[in-house]
Amino acid sequence: MLVVRLFRRIPVGTSSIKSKSCLRLLAGITSGGSALTIVWKHYRVHASKTPKLDSNQLSSIVRDVEGKKVASSSEKFDWKLFWHYLRPQIWVIACATATALVVAYLNVAIPLELGNLINVISSLFTSSSSSIDFKEMLSKPTFRLLQLYIYQSIATFEYITLLSIAGERMAAAIRRDLFQNVLKLDMEFFDRTKTGEIMDRLTSDVQEFKSSFKLLISQGLRASTQIVGSAVSLYCISPSLATLASLVIPSIIAGGTVFGSVLRKLSRQAQAQLSTSTGIAYEAISNIRTTRAFGAETKEHEMFQNEVHKACELNIRLGIGIGVFQGLNNLVMNGIVLSTIALGGQFVSQQRLSAGDLMAFLVATQTIQRSLTQISVLIGQAIRGMSAGARIHEYQKLTSSIPLEQGIRIPFHSMLGQVQFSNVGFAYPTREQQMVLENFNFTIPCGKTVALVGPSGSGKSTLCSLLVRFYDPINGQITIDGKDIRKFNATWLRSNVIGMINQEPTLFSTTIMENIRFGKPDATDAEVMEAAKLAMAHDFIQLFPDGYRTVVGERGVTVSGGQRQRIAIARALLKNPSILILDEATSALDAESEKQVQSAINNVAKGRTTLIIAHRLSTIRNADIIGVMLHRKLVEMGTHTELMSKKNGVYAELMRIQQSGPGESSATTTKTTTTSTTSTTATITLTTTTTATKTTTSISTTTTSITTVATTTTPTSLATKTRFLVLLGLCCCCWWWLFAGRRRRRRADRESKKKPKIHLTKANSENISCVTVIKLPREMSMTPGGNIIKVEKSNIPSRENTQLSDKSFSTIHSTGSVRTSKVNRSSLTNKAQTSHAANNIVSPVNEKITKVASFITLPSHQ
Ligand SMILES: Nc1ncnc2c1ncn2[C@@H]1O[C@H](COP(=O)(O)OP(=O)(O)O)[C@@H](O)[C@H]1O
Ligand SMILES: [Mg+2]
Repeated sequence: MLVVRLFRRIPVGTSSIKSKSCLRLLAGITSGGSALTIVWKHYRVHASKTPKLDSNQLSSIVRDVEGKKVASSSEKFDWKLFWHYLRPQIWVIACATATALVVAYLNVAIPLELGNLINVISSLFTSSSSSIDFKEMLSKPTFRLLQLYIYQSIATFEYITLLSIAGERMAAAIRRDLFQNVLKLDMEFFDRTKTGEIMDRLTSDVQEFKSSFKLLISQGLRASTQIVGSAVSLYCISPSLATLASLVIPSIIAGGTVFGSVLRKLSRQAQAQLSTSTGIAYEAISNIRTTRAFGAETKEHEMFQNEVHKACELNIRLGIGIGVFQGLNNLVMNGIVLSTIALGGQFVSQQRLSAGDLMAFLVATQTIQRSLTQISVLIGQAIRGMSAGARIHEYQKLTSSIPLEQGIRIPFHSMLGQVQFSNVGFAYPTREQQMVLENFNFTIPCGKTVALVGPSGSGKSTLCSLLVRFYDPINGQITIDGKDIRKFNATWLRSNVIGMINQEPTLFSTTIMENIRFGKPDATDAEVMEAAKLAMAHDFIQLFPDGYRTVVGERGVTVSGGQRQRIAIARALLKNPSILILDEATSALDAESEKQVQSAINNVAKGRTTLIIAHRLSTIRNADIIGVMLHRKLVEMGTHTELMSKKNGVYAELMRIQQSGPGESSATTTKTTTTSTTSTTATITLTTTTTATKTTTSISTTTTSITTVATTTTPTSLATKTRFLVLLGLCCCCWWWLFAGRRRRRRADRESKKKPKIHLTKANSENISCVTVIKLPREMSMTPGGNIIKVEKSNIPSRENTQLSDKSFSTIHSTGSVRTSKVNRSSLTNKAQTSHAANNIVSPVNEKITKVASFITLPSHQ
């Protein structure tokens, strides 16, 4: 009845809401047993003290299984922490609890009063005396009932309002503390945890926890009081009817539990399936540029469609299940009402029960049934709420190994800025077995510009991270002005001493002014502008219509890379750091932007210790010291001239490679050094990527890999010449290969154009109507000269088209397309042979014809 009533209240057209509410109710009606089972399992798990799983592992398993949120057995709800948030609201909650109990009492009293009223009304029909003042008789119970209704509504308003106040205050406090704690956690935590997971705890977990808490206090208290109260009134009204009801109601709940568990499983499956499809859409849309660049729209669309289709089928099954349940529920509930009336009617006729009592009995039964429903919903809700709470507590209890606010500070005027790495060894906590730095020693003298070069992955950025204390080294120490940086206050170190600019600085979605001010929140507008001028950003900022008030969009997408970089430099400069770190700050920029950023850097490097990590060696030529990193170590150090004078030096080699290209090129060098008593052997693997833009038309990319073995005893000139010759030879081979390939393709294209096209039309296809025989593109690595069926999107059938029957078309449809046997013109002149040709086409993707179309159309344009 309750389900039916509720459903009637829901407007037509909100089917999803209907199904959700139905599921909730269903869960309520049916989950009493299963929820108790879960509670029991929980108890057993805790009692048996199973070995602890890794929390991440567990939470991911839990999430996978439930698709949403389910209690995890090892994450414990921390009652102490809960009390910490509850205590400030205790009076509000106490008032709310009291009023909720009042409502519960009134809910029990109202049916009894209603019974009295009915008794009075029925006495109107039975009494024959005309002297009785019926008005007087009726007004008393009516007034009392009205009073109870008014009290009930006031108390309801009160407890809901008070609970909202307490719940929202608690949720806000939890969110605030959680965010504060997460912000302070070690980088290791962020390396391990997905941002989505953190956001989830901040938002939906807190929400879930708050709702559960509110529901438990309001509905839980009310429902349990009502059950007790109503059960007592049932026994008072009619013990025999009450005994019957106590037998029937639990068996209905048991039946519903079984049905409900099936439906809940189906619901979880449907939800998980929907999440899968959403995941595909999310990935495709968030990577839209990659999707577009690979022409993968159709593929993604089909994948999405498949998953949505599966979800749709599961949801339809769920809908049918809910329908069956609802129908049965109606039948059973109405049956109960009917049997109570029938049985109660008999009692009334036997004078064992008055009509009013029967009415009171009916209402009380419904109250019990409604309360039981609520209680079983609440058990599930309590479990979800507690696991949400446990997840929140887990993050709240995490501590940072690098405290932000402890440690010493050096007065600004006595800060010199000399940095020293002594025997530093480091491995990332997420990859402990891979040492990134080993016995690393390096000194950056105060006020000097020091550059670090080395192949990608050699640990340059890691050094910067260690210097700003994103991580602490495992061995050795890093000192600033002779003091271990672990002794310094980390926040002071990051915000006052070191300024860091990396390759892809991100801006916040606010104005340029605020972005620059991020470096020093109390800076004046004039100071911000001064920093922007130093960073060569002032001029372009002024050209924006809104100047410094220009909003840069999410992550700074509305300004160019070079502009973003200069804003980031200004941001770092504003705090006037003693040590400036530029980690590949110009590598992602074009020549013009790089020039501007470079001069900004030259501007700001003056008078402060500057560490430049650079990709292009030309940019660090003038550095006071250049260090070369290789395989976790510093292998060379000196000025540009000193390093260039080393005949077999890594730096000199890198420089030669970069200079050998027509433009600047990137070089990646790895060198393994084995020292023996007599000689040193160095194996150098060079991977050179040269991008040359000629004045005429050709743009070419050559990738060459050379492995040479050089020994100190081999004459350098010979080794260089050999390398040069091998390089030249390989370049020639590549050119020849590219040039000949191009010629072959052109010839093939010309030939294919000469051949008359044969159109095969399928009139009733929606968007694909032509099948054309075209030349096979060479890139598809098929038999050279073979023909291929190309499916075109066209709605204009050609006059000469050979009509394809549905059957032959569907053959293409199911087999797809790519490789053909040689199909000549004559073999395609009739339907049977066309079908044969189509049958020879084998798809690598073996998918639908739309996919075939996109697959073939792409290379045929080349
Ligand atoms: N957050 C991280 N967690 C685990 N390993 C990392 C992390 N960042 C970098 N690495 C690894 O550390 C090594 C050095 O990386 P990095 O210092 O970024 O090199 P470079 O800046 O010289 O290109 C690489 O092998 C890289 O894969
Ligand atoms: Mg790096």
